[in-house]
Amino acid sequence: MLLPNQSVNHHGHLVVGGCDTVELAREYGTPLYVLDEQVIREKCREYLDAFGRRLPQAAVAYASKALMTKAICRIMDQEGMSMDVASEGELYTALQAGFPAERIKLHGNFKKTELLRTALEQNVGRIVADSLPELQQISEIAVALGVEADVLIRVTPGVKADTHERIRTGQEDTKFGVSLASSAAMEATRLALELPHVNLHGFHCHIGSQLLYTDGFGLAAHIVMDFIASVRAETGYVAEQFDIGGGLGIRYCTDDVPPSVDRLAEEIAIALAESAQQHEIPMPQLIVEPGRSIVGEAGVTLYTIGVVKEIPDLRTYVSVDGGMSDNPRPLLYDAEYEVLVANRADAHPSHIVRISGAHCETDTLVAEVAVADPQPGDILAVQSTGAYSYSMASNYNRFTRPAMVMVNDGHAELIVRRETLEDLVRCDMVPTRLA
Ligand code: LLP
Repeated sequence: MLLPNQSVNHHGHLVVGGCDTVELAREYGTPLYVLDEQVIREKCREYLDAFGRRLPQAAVAYASKALMTKAICRIMDQEGMSMDVASEGELYTALQAGFPAERIKLHGNFKKTELLRTALEQNVGRIVADSLPELQQISEIAVALGVEADVLIRVTPGVKADTHERIRTGQEDTKFGVSLASSAAMEATRLALELPHVNLHGFHCHIGSQLLYTDGFGLAAHIVMDFIASVRAETGYVAEQFDIGGGLGIRYCTDDVPPSVDRLAEEIAIALAESAQQHEIPMPQLIVEPGRSIVGEAGVTLYTIGVVKEIPDLRTYVSVDGGMSDNPRPLLYDAEYEVLVANRADAHPSHIVRISGAHCETDTLVAEVAVADPQPGDILAVQSTGAYSYSMASNYNRFTRPAMVMVNDGHAELIVRRETLEDLVRCDMVPTRLA
């Protein structure tokens, strides 16, 4: 499978963003994350256009957990995106990169006091409150600091999205948010309206990730709009914002056919308009929070093939110089990927093999895939790794985290340098009594 930004040059090498991936591997080493800047910018524009055309006040907040680096923050800022952060580190990175605080939204089911304080001191645009106690805490900190807290309340719409259970979050049985089915969401709303220094702006939900159908979004929109209507009936409060979360799926394999951003916008816009009309409530400003669908297909990971082990009548194992430390998704979510031998990208994928990592356990990257006669020294490209690979990478087995290079129109530049062995021991301390 070649993605639209990819081609094969006259050497038979895979080209991404105008750069020969075999050259990139040679220059920067492997494993290497390669990220196509143009694809990311186009996705941002696609979102801003598709939602902006239908819902003129709509905001698009990039969910930075998918891939967070300073360069990404710069791109998001330049494209006029807002940004979701869900931890102290993500907030720190965004602020360090100079991303405007008023366009940052803070998420999380357990935000420590210091994080809430920093967010309020830094004047982040919104804090998405996840529970009643947290609302109380936000209010206390805001009062102490003498600032106003601008909040959304995260509600659980009770929608069971069609995706891997570990990335499903809209159902009742979840750690996230306050339940609409019980009275928790209404109680949280009343509390937020009463608490000093808390300005409630509306509601948030997020049903899940890697969703390949849009109907869940329409359903969630209707359910939250029903709630917004009952809040108005019971309290008189009219929500001005509705944040529908992220979750649009991407193409990992040829068989994945994700809906377009346009289709997603259409589904949500229709549901909002229908609901607003039915309940005779004003249309809230819509916020959408895509992560994976902004950066996922922009990324390719390059590995060097080290060992090819054929077990007669059983299987061929192809081991590469990375694995679960640079991409834990196959092990965590049974995620599937397609691969190419980057230095023979036009050759027929004649061999069925298993791609394994180099860690001291069975870290299968791709369980069964057809590739072009893989040989030690070949460069293997794993497709669609822009999201949740680097951001979930670890130092397991004391592997150094790979570098990331951004490509654009034939130019390549490092945006994350490769970790060094010194980096690995940087935080280690040896007590003097052990010296
Ligand atoms: N908003 C909220 C509140 C979220 O929790 C998430 C993802 C998003 C937006 C962005 O969702 P996206 O558009 O990227 O699907 N590590 C998993 C995915 C976890 C998603 C967590 N929340 C994976 O690799 O599949």
